Parts: sequence; structure tokens; C-alpha cells
Amino acid sequence: RRVGILISGRGSNMAALVEAAQAPECPYAVALVASDKPDAPGLGWATDNGVATFAQSPKRIAKAEYEAAIDGALRDAGVEVIALAGYMRLLSDDFVARWRGRIINIHPSLLPKYKGLDTHARAIAAGDRVAGCSVHIVTEELDGGAVLGQAEVPINADDTAESLAARVLMEEHRLYPKVLAEFINR
Ligand code: GRF
Repeated sequence: RRVGILISGRGSNMAALVEAAQAPECPYAVALVASDKPDAPGLGWATDNGVATFAQSPKRIAKAEYEAAIDGALRDAGVEVIALAGYMRLLSDDFVARWRGRIINIHPSLLPKYKGLDTHARAIAAGDRVAGCSVHIVTEELDGGAVLGQAEVPINADDTAESLAARVLMEEHRLYPKVLAEFINR
């Protein structure tokens, strides 16, 4: 199955998905990496690693026009499933409806806890002993769709948001390729 990945920045989860796709038993191929940020560092990594890229800034155009460009690039690449990987823009209800049940996302918390931003700082401030990451189906509700898989990471007494984020990120890189493969094989 052909997967398209949407990014806005670093793209380390995108890279983990691309690297996992090189295994012969992997059930998906990464057909396109697309970004709303033409200067996203992840786009350079994708190009260097032989993956097709597409960038469309949403600035100075209507949201519908921006999303039509992304949608067109994904369809031209034959994409069947979209994986969001640090894509920092809300998809419209229309876009989600057109790809219903075929968009997944990775979020750095144990959903349903800590939807939205600053998840690690919020988990530490709440006195939680465990943090983690979740892969879920994308619906119209932010970080609200069915959870497909999670990984837990203990919170240490001396953790900062940054140190915790770094340890959770390592688990994200293991979880996302595994759950995407299961999702494709389901
Ligand atoms: C990750 O922590 C992901 O869970 C969140 O945004 C971050 C993206 O990092 N949605 P990267 O671009 O994949 O390195």
C-alpha cells in the first residue's frame, strides 16, 4: 500500500517510517512526503533518501486551495493512507471526510490525556509517573480518533519537558512504523 506522510518540521517520525519501509516484509511504501513548510528540514532528508516530496505554503491562499493542492499531490502519487508526522496544521472537516478512516497521526501523550500542545510539560506538572505516545485515527476532533497503539515511558523525578520529550520520541520511532504496518494489514 502507498502511504503519504505530512510533516511540518524535523521529520524524525517520517524518517522512522521511511526506514522501516525498506524491510522486505513491510506492507507499505512511502510514495510522498508533503509539507506546509517549504523549508521543513524533513523535506531535505526525504529527498536525500530518494523519497518524492511536495511543499505548498498555506500563506496568501485560501485554506481550501491549500488543501486541494496537498490532496492533489497525494492522489497523483497514488497515496491510499496518510500518516501525519509532526504536521502542525488542523485538517478541515472536508479533507478528513474525503480521507475518512485513512488518516493516522502520532501524538506525544497517552491519549485521551493531553490532547493538543505541550503534552510533556503538562504531564510533569500534573505529577504523572508515566508518559508516552499514541497512534490514532484522525477525525474532525483534534487528537480525538480511535487509538490504534500506545507506548509508555516512565517519568523520572528529574525530568524536564525536554528530557522527557527525547525519551518519548525514541518510543515514537518504534511505535509508529509498527502500528502503521498493523493498520495496513488489518
Ligand atoms: C512528535 O513528537 C510527534 O509526536 C508530534 O510532533 C513531533 C514531531 O517530531 N506530533 P518529528 O517532526 O517527527 O521529529
